[in-house]
Amino acid sequence: MEILGIDIGGSGIKGAPVDVDKGIMVAERHRIDTPQPSTPDAVGNVVAELARHFDWTGLIGCTFPAIIKNGVTLSAANVDQSWIGTQAEKLLRKKTGCPLILLNDADAAGMAEMEFGAGKGHKGVVIILTLGTGIGSAVFVNGALLANSELGHLEFDGREAEKWTSDKVRKDKDLSWKKWGERIDAYLKHVEFLLSPDLFILGGGVSKNFDKFSPYLHTQTMIVPAQLLNDAGIVGAALAARNIK
Ligand code: BGC
Repeated sequence: MEILGIDIGGSGIKGAPVDVDKGIMVAERHRIDTPQPSTPDAVGNVVAELARHFDWTGLIGCTFPAIIKNGVTLSAANVDQSWIGTQAEKLLRKKTGCPLILLNDADAAGMAEMEFGAGKGHKGVVIILTLGTGIGSAVFVNGALLANSELGHLEFDGREAEKWTSDKVRKDKDLSWKKWGERIDAYLKHVEFLLSPDLFILGGGVSKNFDKFSPYLHTQTMIVPAQLLNDAGIVGAALAARNIK
């Protein structure tokens, strides 16, 4: 079965049809810059353009970098503030004319990793953290997702995690792998203290450089890099849409 997966981010909106039985993209992914300002209407038009690009009329799974409850976007950390309180799922269904489900981007990436990547077969508490512009999180307990966990906004030592240790901060402040790795280590230890996970999976584009910063990570909990890298959001979005009635 094929479902169109779309991943909305602060800088780009990407999509591709996904074979949800194999967890792989079946066509080259298409990317369009996120319009600025990234208002619901402007982003909705780009999502519709992506669907048209693939001549799509079937199911769509779509991610968004915010809390999504019952199809409504309830936060907007790295996108236009007008998303807060928007009936976003309804809006995107109208724009595309397709049955569509909307979910948090890290939750989608986590679903893909649990089913086809680094989390496959892992029971207990598994925490996936996506390190990008912000920090996204997905928490699984025996394979079941606790949606909208937002661990990137956790405060410790008077700092908000994503403003101190996201990949954007590493690039903006030109931090060495050691310096940034030590920050990630402090953050992971804090999450470990609060939730006693059995496995951490680190995702986001930077996970391809896992070997450069993993020497500085010293949690008791096992830490592995994500396997689906940048495709996890698209694949996970499509997996989530299997449940559309
Ligand atoms: C948002 C999350 C999102 C994460 C990664 C955070 O700023 O609050 O909802 O998952 O960024 O995009």
